[in-house]
Amino acid sequence: MERYAIKGGNPLAGEVEIAGAKNAALAILAAAIMTDETVLIENMPDVRDTNVLLEAIQEIGAIVERVDKSRVKVNGSTITNVSVDYEFIKKIRASYYLLGALLGKYKHAEVPLPGGCNIGSRPIDQHLKGFRALGASVEIRNGAIVTQAEKLKGSHIFLDMVSVGATINIMMAASMANGRTIIENAAREPHVVDVANFLNSMGANIKGAGTDVIRIKGVEKLHKTEYSIIPDQIEAGTFMFAAAATRGDVLVKNVIPKHLEATTAKLEEIGCEVKEFDDSVRVIASRELRKTHVKTLPYPGYPTDMQPQIAAALTMAKGTSIVTESIFENRFKYVDELARMGANIKVEGNTAIIDGVDRLTGARVSASDLRAGAALVIAGLSAEGITIVDDIVYIQRGYEDFEIKLRSLGAEIEKVSTEKEIQKFRLRVG
Ligand code: EPZ
Repeated sequence: MERYAIKGGNPLAGEVEIAGAKNAALAILAAAIMTDETVLIENMPDVRDTNVLLEAIQEIGAIVERVDKSRVKVNGSTITNVSVDYEFIKKIRASYYLLGALLGKYKHAEVPLPGGCNIGSRPIDQHLKGFRALGASVEIRNGAIVTQAEKLKGSHIFLDMVSVGATINIMMAASMANGRTIIENAAREPHVVDVANFLNSMGANIKGAGTDVIRIKGVEKLHKTEYSIIPDQIEAGTFMFAAAATRGDVLVKNVIPKHLEATTAKLEEIGCEVKEFDDSVRVIASRELRKTHVKTLPYPGYPTDMQPQIAAALTMAKGTSIVTESIFENRFKYVDELARMGANIKVEGNTAIIDGVDRLTGARVSASDLRAGAALVIAGLSAEGITIVDDIVYIQRGYEDFEIKLRSLGAEIEKVSTEKEIQKFRLRVG
């Protein structure tokens, strides 16, 4: 099993390039099969989740050609099977985007029910509500969702809560339904907009993405396109908080500053200087960090995917901080691991109370999910001594070349597998 060995204490400094947005890429890869023509997707992140989804669409018969590390061609004309294998949904929940894509194109889809995950039960009732509203039958058969329709008919759909996945899945199916669909209480995340723009580049007719009302006029067919995915604002924010926690000075390149507004506002509140340029942001953390209160909300509020990262930085901020998680019911599993590094942090319900300490000390910790893992790396980079982060397979799901990018900023971090390699690391870094 791979793990990270980290020697903390180096302020991060230099420049880092951000990859394409994982959460946009997963939906776009699913939507790419909705045409029988060839689609070229650029700025694809080379991470485990997107690579698994590429395997899933190949497995149902689509042709996938990896042009290079960040470009892929997809052609859905050879799809022979609308049933996705359980092994893929087990590896990544977002395989469920194939429901909306296959239902839209073939009026039939079978995808195993995604289980919960380490951050919550994550039901998909709103996705299924949308498919039914479009006239599809939806049933659970042998652990799989089976949905089909003679034809899909546009509908006026009110989501019961803001859901990124449901918004995107319904948008895909509705883009090839007959007539008009309105999605009310839609998610407004940048990656929802990116999927809408991608579908429109294929000939769909989607308006209002990025607002809470999305209007879709269904079309018969979608055609080829070439499309570049937006930068990953969560990867960008993760590096911004790594700069803050290590008191560094980092230029984060290939970003859309507008997508980072909530993150930037919090970094400034805790004492960092953030300079914005056209497609980059610079974080300078020369002063001691200060406490803050933060509550995660749907976009444009503070992102839940950046909650563990700010908590890691706040463990060394002066004063008592409050972090409230309003999206998922179980996104504080990393707190016990931070406490093992000397953080003074306790969880009451969906709130973490953090009393800042002068310093963290390195320890052996384990990642419970993608963003929790990133937060433990941030803590390790700023702690005194050596931190070993186990289970980094979670981190590799969403961060391209994470340790390579951190090393280019001066971090002492290495991927290790055996105890012997850990000893060698300890000897090398002293
Ligand atoms: C997407 O998950 C992201 N994943 C998550 O990122 C992100 O945390 C989340 O959006 C919120 O921004 C991908 O895009 C692949 P939701 P998703 O539907 O779509 C409840 C990461 O770290 N809900 O917006 O599953 C749900 O339980 C991952 O990259 C229902 O009850 O999130 C949650 O409490 C983690 N019924 C809330 O809504 C439904 O049908 C928001 O979930 C759907 C959702």
